[in-house]
Amino acid sequence: MSQRTKVKQILADEKVQYDVTVKGWIRSFRNNQFIALNDGSTNNNLQIVIDPATDPALQKRFTAGAAISVRGEVIASQGKGQRVEVKAREVEILGDSDPEKYPLQLKNKPSLEYLREIAHLRFRTNTFGAVFRVRHSLAFAVHQFFNERGFVYLHTPVITASDAEGAGEMFRVTTLPLNNLPRDVDGEIDFKEDFFGRATNLTVSGQLEGELGAMAFGDIYTFGPTFRAENSNTARHLAEFWMIEPEMAFYDLEDNMNLAEAFIKYVINYVLQHNREDLEFLAQRLVEEEKQKPQQERSEMSLLEKLEFVVNNEFMRLTYTEAIDILKNSKPNKSKKFQYLIEDWGADLQSEHERYLVEKHFKKPVILTDYPAAIKAFYMKQNEDGKTVRAMDILFPGIGEIVGGSQREENYDKLVTRMEQMHLPVEELSWYLDTRRFGACPHAGFGLGFERLVLFVTGMGNIRDVIPFPRTPKSAEF
Ligand code: 4AD
Ligand code: MG
Repeated sequence: MSQRTKVKQILADEKVQYDVTVKGWIRSFRNNQFIALNDGSTNNNLQIVIDPATDPALQKRFTAGAAISVRGEVIASQGKGQRVEVKAREVEILGDSDPEKYPLQLKNKPSLEYLREIAHLRFRTNTFGAVFRVRHSLAFAVHQFFNERGFVYLHTPVITASDAEGAGEMFRVTTLPLNNLPRDVDGEIDFKEDFFGRATNLTVSGQLEGELGAMAFGDIYTFGPTFRAENSNTARHLAEFWMIEPEMAFYDLEDNMNLAEAFIKYVINYVLQHNREDLEFLAQRLVEEEKQKPQQERSEMSLLEKLEFVVNNEFMRLTYTEAIDILKNSKPNKSKKFQYLIEDWGADLQSEHERYLVEKHFKKPVILTDYPAAIKAFYMKQNEDGKTVRAMDILFPGIGEIVGGSQREENYDKLVTRMEQMHLPVEELSWYLDTRRFGACPHAGFGLGFERLVLFVTGMGNIRDVIPFPRTPKSAEF
């Protein structure tokens, strides 16, 4: 097996006078002498110095994007910008890259929009290199956080017959012949002949199955892809996104909030410790981007300051009703912007309301609790007031809702009554209701949208730029 040393290692060690083999992709070749080599381990390129006597025909093939293998010696660098470089003894081309056709030439900096169109190559840019290494670290930190606390990682199904959120935003999964769908007497598609003998979907959430796990293991979490067939073309919505859903037996809403806050702080702290270089790169990218904006719209804090702030400060906690009062008395309301809320206790908060609370009023992450039952899912625990439920949403600056969760209704009769009111298929969900029949107990959980977390941590502006292959109503090329 061929050994290779990663560029990150060579640059971090700063050792000299030893032989290495490095492999990667050429970012640039200049002065017929210097190759900037990137192998994906870091945004910092390794400078490869080639012998000027190298065959000119070979030198011609040192083009941006080409894959090469280099054997040589690590030496102290005379040039600016790097402590060490590799004096090449042998350069082998593993794969050529036609400079006329390769779209990622260093000289013309491509826009994020353009890179979205060539998402199959964008990993090879510094921005996406940093974003996806940070994404990886966040995912790793998620597992480490729960593992340290004795949670069991439960794999919940992607294909399911239930609609966990009851919102009807599901992608159909069918084995029926699309060119010859069986129809019943009313002309409706007859799913009886399908895989499960009824309509199946891609899951919108692993929560219901997660609750089954919590009733046995105590504490579980899921971390997998979830799907929403909502036609939202925003910078915060994807049709396919990854969700982390912990579910804990014997937790009430306050325990749930405490866990969610500790969890978010832990994973952000993890990348602050482990991904400094990439975060600094992304912070600088943001500074450049903000320069395009008018002065008053620019962020007061740098990306790193924002992350440190979240880790070091308590989230604000208040109820939906308290939030409505603040919005009613807010300045924008005097200009009638939020007027409708005065008449409409019970309305769902729009993203401009959430942003006002988080970015203008409290200037920190906010946990809103006790929402009106009518705008929340069927499984949430009903409060004594008969109007609200033990829900919690966590709102983040620049993002809006990052977490949705609740204490669950553990009372069988109350839950069934609620499901009937909402016209949910009580019979079909009898497996779920068994958690309320056999050893029901107080329990709670939440779901964190992983891409929204990555958005916040990387300072990127569009959710399509923090998932490798975005699926939105308008884009799913692969
Ligand atoms: O608020 P949601 O719909 O809650 C649930 O699915 C619950 N079953 C969670 C639970 O209690 N176990 O979704 C949870 C989070 C949202 O706060 C948001 O961060 C993210 O998932 N999310 C999306 N992210 C990207 N694109 C979308 N279309 C999203 N919809 C929800
Ligand atoms: Mg929600």
